[in-house]
Amino acid sequence: MATEIDSLLGKIHQGDCVAGLKQLPSDSIDLAFADPPFNIGYKYDQYDDRLGSEKYLDWSNEWMQEIYRVLKPAGTFWLAIGDEYAAELKVAATKLGFSTRNWVVWYYTFGVHCKTKFTRSHAHLFYFVKNPAQFTFNRDAIAVPSARQLVYGDKRANAKGRTPDDTWVLRPQDLPEGFSKEEDTWYFPRVAGTFKERSGFHGCQMPEQLLGRIIRACSCEGEIVLDPFSGSSTTLTVAKKLGRQYFGYELSDDYVKLGTRRLEAANAGDRLEGAEEPNVSAPATHSQKARRLADPSPKAVKKKAVKKKAAKKSVEKKSAEKKSAEKKSAEKKPVEKKPAKKRAVKKKPTKKKAAKRKPVVKMVKPSSQLSIEFGP
Ligand SMILES: C[S@@+](CC[C@H](N)C(=O)[O-])C[C@H]1O[C@@H](n2cnc3c(N)ncnc32)[C@H](O)[C@@H]1O
Repeated sequence: MATEIDSLLGKIHQGDCVAGLKQLPSDSIDLAFADPPFNIGYKYDQYDDRLGSEKYLDWSNEWMQEIYRVLKPAGTFWLAIGDEYAAELKVAATKLGFSTRNWVVWYYTFGVHCKTKFTRSHAHLFYFVKNPAQFTFNRDAIAVPSARQLVYGDKRANAKGRTPDDTWVLRPQDLPEGFSKEEDTWYFPRVAGTFKERSGFHGCQMPEQLLGRIIRACSCEGEIVLDPFSGSSTTLTVAKKLGRQYFGYELSDDYVKLGTRRLEAANAGDRLEGAEEPNVSAPATHSQKARRLADPSPKAVKKKAVKKKAAKKSVEKKSAEKKSAEKKSAEKKPVEKKPAKKRAVKKKPTKKKAAKRKPVVKMVKPSSQLSIEFGP
C-alpha cells in the first residue's frame, strides 16, 4: 500500500531509495533532483560504488523508472551524472519517457588533478520533464544580469536580466585561477573573465547555489521536492530555505544523522551558502580596483559611499583649517625677529694643514710631563 506523502515530508529517511520510492503514490512529486553514485569507486560511508556496468545500469533504470512514476504530470527530474554513464543514463531516461529540456554542463573547480589526461572539471546535469508541453520554468527567478546591463550600461537591456546559459559556472569572476589550460572544460570569455563552499562530512556535497537555481526555476513555493540520494542533504536544505516541502532517502545512517543536523539548522528564508546569486556577474578583471568597481553589491556600494563622504569631509576640514590659519596670520602684526647670533664653529684641522703649523713647545710645571700643543 502506498505511503501518504504528508507523513514523509520534512525528513531524510534512512534506507534504500528504490524500496522507498516504490512505496510512494504515483503523480505526487513536483521536482526530483538526483545525484546518484557515479559508479567510479568513490569511497562512501556504506554504499559500494563499484558495480558491474550492467548491474549499475539496471539499478539506475529501476530507480529512474520509479522517479518517472511518482512525478506529477507536469513534474521535473534533474539528474547529475559523471562522464562515465552520462550517455547511457540519458538514453535510459529518454526510453522511460522523459523529455530532455537541457543538457547543462556544470563547470567546477578543484577537480581531482590528473597527470596523464585533462583534469576533470565538470559534471552533467540533465533537465528532464515528463511532459514537454507542461512544466514549471520560473525564468525570472533565476535570471542573471546581462553584459548589456553590467558592462555596457546599455539602456536597451532587459531590466530583469537574461536566462543563464546551459554551461553553468557559478560566478567565474570569483575564480581567477579557474579555466586553466590543463582542464577539460575550456572557457573563453568574450571580453575578459574568471570566476570562485562544505559541511565537512560528505565528499560529494553540491553547492547550494547550484541547487538554488534548479529549485527556484523548476518548482514553486510550497511544492514537493524529492532527493533519492540525499548525501549531505544539500537539496533538502536548499528546498527548506526556499520555502518548498521536501523529503529524501539516504543509505548511510551517519549521513542521515549529520544531514539532518544541517537541515535542522536551516530555516525558510535563510540565504543560500556560497557566493551570492549571480546578480553580480561582471566579467573578470584582474585588478582589485576594477573588481571592486565591478561589484555593485549593496554592501560595496554603501562602503564606497561612506568612504567618499569621509574623504570629502576631510578635504573640507583641511581647507577650513588652512583658511582660518591664513586669516589669523593676517590679523597679527609682523614680529621683528632678531637675527640669530652666529655661533663660531671650531673646525678640526685637516692633517695636511696641521703638518704645516709649527709646534709650540710650552713648559707647564716643572714636575709635569712636557705637553705639545699646536698654536693658532
Ligand atoms: C553523490 S552522493 C549525493 C551527494 C549530495 N548531492 C550532496 O550534495 O551531498 C550519493 C549518495 O547516495 C547514497 N546512496 C547510495 N545508494 C543509495 C540507495 N540505494 N538509496 C539511498 N541512498 C543511496 C550514498 O550513500 C551517497 O551519500
